[in-house]
Amino acid sequence: MIDALGQPQSAVVLGGTSDLAGAIVQALVRRRCRSVVLAGRDEQRLAASAATASAAGAEHVSIVRFDALDVGDAARAVDDAFAAALDAAGGVDLVLLAVGVLSREREELDPARTAEVVTATYSWPATALTRAAALLREQGYGRIVVLSSVAAMRVRRQNFVYASAKAGLDTFSVGLSEALRGTGVAVQIVRPGRVPTKMTEGLPSAPMSSTPDAVADAVVAGLESGAPVIWVPPAARWAMGLARLVPQALWRRVPG
Ligand SMILES: NC(=O)c1ccc[n+]([C@@H]2O[C@H](COP(=O)([O-])OP(=O)(O)OC[C@H]3O[C@@H](n4cnc5c(N)ncnc54)[C@H](OP(=O)(O)O)[C@@H]3O)[C@@H](O)[C@H]2O)c1
Repeated sequence: MIDALGQPQSAVVLGGTSDLAGAIVQALVRRRCRSVVLAGRDEQRLAASAATASAAGAEHVSIVRFDALDVGDAARAVDDAFAAALDAAGGVDLVLLAVGVLSREREELDPARTAEVVTATYSWPATALTRAAALLREQGYGRIVVLSSVAAMRVRRQNFVYASAKAGLDTFSVGLSEALRGTGVAVQIVRPGRVPTKMTEGLPSAPMSSTPDAVADAVVAGLESGAPVIWVPPAARWAMGLARLVPQALWRRVPG
């Protein structure tokens, strides 16, 4: 069960090999989380993430496989992850959605890559969250934490395919949160600026950058406060509010 400070004992991570998810899992395990289900596509990377979670103190770590390009399989993946959590911990306190693919500038004219980015960043996550929400509703309690991005707030030329998919997922998550009001299940949206992880490898630093540990600490604090939106760093909230007012001619000159 979720404790009085909002911290989960049992978590399902969709995107269990994500660097940000890894930092968040470590932070959760350092508090109260004892059971973790890591769902992802690559068996070796999942095993490595599972070993890290165990070393941090998780008592039960299970692995579920899925490919986010297979949207028709999303409900099965969520069902399997919930079944593993039920076996280990008797329920699911937290679902963390960390799947995503960043598009790069050179890829923007490739239709197959656009389909891949949009499917893995929006279609699969939205489908999986729909199933997770239904299962949590049946259970009667739980949190869903969605890793969105400041990129969803105002699209940039450099990664507009990814940003458009994140904007879709962010809007979906706001709607899901409304749909779940009064059910005992809550959705929290995390909007980080750029973080050095394998997703952003080789990219220059950008305004509103942070670190995986800063994101993890913000998520833990957000679980405690119940804030519907968690900005990392917190100043990103005001910066992105202003950014939405900047004329496009000026916006395209902002580095990042
Ligand atoms: N890093 C940032 O600057 C930043 C900023 C804001 C928001 N975010 C969001 O935070 C989340 C985590 O990102 P991260 O920075 O931790 O990057 P990451 O380590 O690359 O994590 C991305 C996750 O998505 C998974 N994934 C991608 N395609 C998949 C597929 N076809 N099937 C199954 N899983 C797939 C990856 O699996 P593999 O390990 O197998 O590749 C990985 O677990 C993402 O949603 C990202 O959009 C990141």
